[in-house]
Amino acid sequence: MRKKIAAANWKMNTTVPEGIELAKSVRQALEGVDRKCDVVLGVPFTHLCAVAEAVKGTDIIVAAENCATEPKGAYTGEVSAAMVASTGAKAVILGHSERRQYYSEDSETLVAKVAQALDNGLQVIFCCGEDLEERKDGRQFDVVRKELEDGIFNLSEDEFRSVVIAYEPIWAIGTGETATSEQAEEMLKYIRQTIADRYGKEIAEETSILYGGSCNGKNAPELFAKPNVDGGLIGGASLSAEKFLPIVEAF
Ligand code: 13P
Repeated sequence: MRKKIAAANWKMNTTVPEGIELAKSVRQALEGVDRKCDVVLGVPFTHLCAVAEAVKGTDIIVAAENCATEPKGAYTGEVSAAMVASTGAKAVILGHSERRQYYSEDSETLVAKVAQALDNGLQVIFCCGEDLEERKDGRQFDVVRKELEDGIFNLSEDEFRSVVIAYEPIWAIGTGETATSEQAEEMLKYIRQTIADRYGKEIAEETSILYGGSCNGKNAPELFAKPNVDGGLIGGASLSAEKFLPIVEAF
């Protein structure tokens, strides 16, 4: 059975001491909770070692929010997938719309990053999603299919088994406007079918597909109740244990 996942994406928030506090408070809040999902904390590079230490001995998975296209060398300011893996992190978020929009990450870049991540044993949380104009034009399915085809459908079946998909409509990110559970289910079902067309039904059924975009403790139960919604990638509501816990408990 595919995994249910509640994944935090802290983005560029918290200093290192604040991040350690947040990780500890999430750890504490989860103690004794009968959880039906994996919990992932996506944190800035600077926090990886300390957060990995703060959750040591639990099954909380630490993830980076990015990694380099190259394995090593003269790339000032970059952080390789090997560096990420050496911190104790087990996953990396790639292809987030904020990276595509603000840092011009295209599919070619993402193919290289995904390859680096998988070469270094990291699970990939691969993001996709349309903007408002694309949705208004009814092009959301084409946009998402192309992002998958160009970003990860080059992978072998074996490699693809290390990928989790996060559908994050750009119009719902940080806006307070969530996709309805019907809209989320419709797209995630489409994504699963698209995966089935490429990799077959068995792999499609095993792939966890998350929804992201203004997901919170209030709307998570309805979203996660949909058959194709395997969890969430959470921004704002992951920045306090108090807000994040109800999402973890929403399955
Ligand atoms: P919000 O939950 O703040 O809308 O962010 C979603 C997101 O981008 C997670 O990656």
